[in-house]
Amino acid sequence: MNKQAETRYPIHDLLAERWSPRAFADRTVASETLGALFEAARWAASCFNEQPWRFIVATREYPAEFARLLGCLVEPNQAWAKQAPVLVLGVVKKTFAHNEKLNAHARHDLGLATAGLTVQASALELYIHTMAGILPDEAQTRYRIPEDYEVVTAFAIGYIGDADSLPGQAKEQELAPRERRSLADQVFSGGWETPADFAE
Ligand SMILES: Cc1cc2nc3c(=O)[nH]c(=O)nc-3n(C[C@H](O)[C@H](O)[C@H](O)COP(=O)(O)O)c2cc1C
Repeated sequence: MNKQAETRYPIHDLLAERWSPRAFADRTVASETLGALFEAARWAASCFNEQPWRFIVATREYPAEFARLLGCLVEPNQAWAKQAPVLVLGVVKKTFAHNEKLNAHARHDLGLATAGLTVQASALELYIHTMAGILPDEAQTRYRIPEDYEVVTAFAIGYIGDADSLPGQAKEQELAPRERRSLADQVFSGGWETPADFAE
């Protein structure tokens, strides 16, 4: 299925073709390919070059490991994410290494790293679906994650699948049109909520 972004200005195909599917094909993601995705994440910019992101990966090829990670998701996400060939937890280190102070931008930088990974995924015809619907305490316990780290997100990785394979609500969400606020609602210039000229 194709849910290409309808844009007012042309953007790169890798961005326009990205979306967050729930249906994944029954196809493994090669280890080399996973390596390329996390290499893309590794080269993200970060505050003080702290690189606060950490990832825990589980593939369906190792069912016990996959179940361990799947059990860190809320049930509505489990319902569709169990089809994905790869699941990942996104974790941040909460403090800076250089002064042990709180890193207020750690979550931002996890997002940036995940964005890089997502663009690389698009280039490899893979799709990412990020989830906030996780059980962070469960993840912290299952993986014995130290206190200075916080589990922030999970994401599924895989090749696009068939919407008909999804249970009821997930199928509806899969087929729903994609929506966005206008550029004028998001990009201001000269004053709060004054749209930039190119955004009007
Ligand atoms: C941080 C974050 C958390 C999200 N959490 C969930 C989630 O728990 N479950 C879900 O089905 N989708 C989740 N999504 C996917 C969004 O709903 C989706 O990105 C949004 O509706 C826009 O759709 P698109 O990515 O297809 O353009 C999340 C996305 C992000 C970036």
